[in-house]
Amino acid sequence: MLGCAQADSSDAQLSTVERDRCAPEDFYSTTNHKTHVRFEHNWIEVENQRMDGMVVMRDGRAFCRRLRDLRAGDRIVVGLRGIRVTPESKERDRLAFAFMSNGISSERQVDTAVRQTAALVRSAIEQQLKVLVVAGPVVVHTGGAAGLAALVRAGCVHGILAGNALGVHDIEAALFGTSLGVRLSDGRQEEHGHRNHMRAINAIYHAGSVNQAVESGRLKSGILYECVKKGVPFVLAGSLRDDGPLPGTITDMNAAQDAYAEHLKGAGLVLCLGSMLHSIATGNMLPGWVKVVCVDINPAVATKVSDRGTGQAIGVVADVGMFLDLLSKQLA
Ligand SMILES: NC(=O)c1ccc[n+]([C@@H]2O[C@H](COP(=O)([O-])OP(=O)(O)OC[C@H]3O[C@@H](n4cnc5c(N)ncnc54)[C@H](O)[C@@H]3O)[C@@H](O)[C@H]2O)c1
Repeated sequence: MLGCAQADSSDAQLSTVERDRCAPEDFYSTTNHKTHVRFEHNWIEVENQRMDGMVVMRDGRAFCRRLRDLRAGDRIVVGLRGIRVTPESKERDRLAFAFMSNGISSERQVDTAVRQTAALVRSAIEQQLKVLVVAGPVVVHTGGAAGLAALVRAGCVHGILAGNALGVHDIEAALFGTSLGVRLSDGRQEEHGHRNHMRAINAIYHAGSVNQAVESGRLKSGILYECVKKGVPFVLAGSLRDDGPLPGTITDMNAAQDAYAEHLKGAGLVLCLGSMLHSIATGNMLPGWVKVVCVDINPAVATKVSDRGTGQAIGVVADVGMFLDLLSKQLA
């Protein structure tokens, strides 16, 4: 039978890691679903669940650990015995997710998706779970920065995970009113506006950091401004495309992944807004029971996030600027 394994009552098989970062060939590779392993006749829930990890047993507890974090002497689960995987049931969430129960489509009312997303935000906050936003620079290009800034100010966002570009264009918009040189007020190209994103980076180098730019009064509005004012953490991860990057951008990719993963702990809802790269990366770090709403103009992106294992992602095909404007009106 495809997808089924015969239940057996034996303990999970363990093997010892002989060298740092080198797993025994028959290691068990985790999914993002809730997982238990049988150890000394007891089923133990795996902690820090994520996909593409290994299960390390220590002091009667089981943890997901990435390959690069394995250390010589670790006892890890190998083979397929004594492992129980419990996929999330979409049916259980039918009401909360009804607006996307028939897959990803552009033929839907954005209003409905916004209302449902607002309900998910409220519900996460009521349960004292974090709402994290993963955002690409298109949020600023499409005029969504004001909506996102309002959501931060209103306490609806508990962390922002982004790349350098989101920070650069947010600060460019706050200092010069343009995004990649295009005036946000009327959509026209500003004369010599091509300099503006570099002027924004330069301004932050002069100030020392984004935080210091806020403290000195140089930066007076925008998404990162509201984060600093509200004490909401943000992570800017580097990429090969980056200009600058802004001070504080994490250019060591492993360190950037670690920072994302750290902030995702305790998340109940993740809103992925207009970044294929950062949305898929974040999905890879999340357990399958954390709700994800992926807003992108391209239906293929939401499908891709889902296909890369983040099956719980709800796709909203919409302009992210308009989506954030409507969402902030619902919540902020
Ligand atoms: N100036 C810079 O330094 C700079 C500039 C650009 C990108 N970057 C970096 O490159 C990396 C990738 O950038 P990215 O995340 O923008 O690219 P990406 O290709 O991963 O994602 C862009 C997404 O935006 C979607 N999109 C386009 N228009 C939209 C709209 N109106 N509404 C909703 N979605 C829309 C696209 O479909 C796409 O999925 C990031 O790390 C970024 O920081 C740096």
